[in-house]
Amino acid sequence: MSMEFNKILAALLCAGIIAMLAGFVSHKLYHPHHLEKDAYEIAAAESGTGAGPAVAEQTEPEVIDVATADVAKGEKLAKVCASCHTFESGGPNKVGPNLFGVVGGDHAHKSDYPYSDAMKAEHGKKWDYDALNKFLWSPKKAVPGTKMTFLGIKKPEDRAAVIKWLDTQK
Ligand code: HEC
Repeated sequence: MSMEFNKILAALLCAGIIAMLAGFVSHKLYHPHHLEKDAYEIAAAESGTGAGPAVAEQTEPEVIDVATADVAKGEKLAKVCASCHTFESGGPNKVGPNLFGVVGGDHAHKSDYPYSDAMKAEHGKKWDYDALNKFLWSPKKAVPGTKMTFLGIKKPEDRAAVIKWLDTQK
């Protein structure tokens, strides 16, 4: 093989690798919100509102029926919360506060947890089903400035199930 041919081959390989990398990088750059977008689309399809923007603009969650909710399903769904919360009596605070007895309790119900100023400002208000429905639907919309970085539970029956199970932890 001549030197020239080797150079051309190396150049072609290089170009190929650069093209692959560029494709990968631009994919990461331009599609970083896949999950969020898909979640909106699923929510839109389920609520029958069609396009995503209508759901993004939704300012209130659907009303829920905790009485008829599936408590076993709620326990399963609450595994998502367990990365940041414990639920048992006397359980430690993690990224988020221990949630034992939170249903019916005050906002910022634990005295040994460093809440955000936004959550502290709500102290005195009760965590009833309605408040929890709003918060678990969209923490950021319910308590602007909260440090609970959780996108929310879009399905009304899933929120009802989690709240029903949470209400057994007291
Ligand atoms: C990524 C971590 C994270 C996840 C996941 C998470 N939370 Fe939280 N949660 C927090 C943090 C942090 C706070 C404190 C918020 C503040 O001070 O603004 C909080 C606060 C709360 C509060 C208010 C507690 C109080 O004493 O007023 C409730 C209720 C709550 N979370 C329920 C849930 C439930 C139910 C889930 C699962 C569906 C969940 N959280 C998932 C981090 C999380």
